[in-house]
Amino acid sequence: MSIERCQILELPKIQDPRGNLTFVESNNHIPFNIARVYYLYDVPGGSERGGHAHKELHQFIIAMSGSFDVVLDDGQDKKRVHMSRSYNGLYVCPMIWRELDNFSSGSVCMVLASTKYEESDYYRDYAEFMRARWCK
Ligand code: TYD
Repeated sequence: MSIERCQILELPKIQDPRGNLTFVESNNHIPFNIARVYYLYDVPGGSERGGHAHKELHQFIIAMSGSFDVVLDDGQDKKRVHMSRSYNGLYVCPMIWRELDNFSSGSVCMVLASTKYEESDYYRDYAEFMRARWCK
């Protein structure tokens, strides 16, 4: 699972003078079934979120409002992705360390996730994540 697999995917955008509309369907616009949705909001300036990897979880991250950066790290390569468009999302496959920072004021980060919340799916220690990567 390398960061090459983590790509920005463009979602349908129905443009309308009354306001634009975007939608996401499980296993169609994103490569997994959606089991959970969560969102980050009221993020104070300078805050960092994430700082972990997931063993099995697939995620799709959307900047619903404002902007932020996602830093992806597969243990070998790193890339920083700027998120600012509500019709784009970043697919993040399992076994990728991620950090979120550079949140603009009033930004909202929505995450679509492939499973319900399970703490046992997390690597919260970077060294442990790296050991697991070398074993795979
Ligand atoms: P965490 O995933 O570490 O947040 P982030 O990656 O956005 O910085 O989760 C923060 C806390 O919220 C942690 O105690 C677990 C809890 N949590 C849930 O209870 N359910 C969830 O779906 C999520 C994502 C987190």
